[in-house]
Amino acid sequence: MKKILVLHGPNLNLLGERENKIYGNLTLEEINARIKKFAQQNEIEVEIYQSNHEGDLVTKIQEARRKIDGLVINPAAYTHTSVAIRDALAVLGELGIPIIEVHLSNIYRREEFRHQSLTAAVATGVISGFGPTSYLLGMQAVLEKLSEKNN
Ligand code: DQA
Repeated sequence: MKKILVLHGPNLNLLGERENKIYGNLTLEEINARIKKFAQQNEIEVEIYQSNHEGDLVTKIQEARRKIDGLVINPAAYTHTSVAIRDALAVLGELGIPIIEVHLSNIYRREEFRHQSLTAAVATGVISGFGPTSYLLGMQAVLEKLSEKNN
């Protein structure tokens, strides 16, 4: 069974009570339930992890490098600041693991400081602006990439 890791960055634990106009009303738990349902329907194993700490996310990415087939990551604010997360992702990229960066909001329609993503350059692709569906599109994209690999 293929295994996908879904990572949520800082402040996403507050979804549902945080800037609802931008991020919607669903809580992280509700989004995670949709992610798990998608995984079940597509017969893949999924692990979900959220952290507010940059180093935790780096360690999780490092540890995943020999265990997972694909990664879906919403680095949240670290998208725009974290060289450390970018470098950790690059290791997975070198191993040929598809990495899809996702955002609930369309970061290009927002403040200018959000237009730059340090992590996008080492991702396989980016999905931004589809609300919670961004995660499911990200998982679908991982599956597409894996099936390209096998054909
Ligand atoms: C976000 C966009 C980031 O700019 C922001 O810092 C977040 C969430 C999104 O999912 O739209 O926390 O990654």
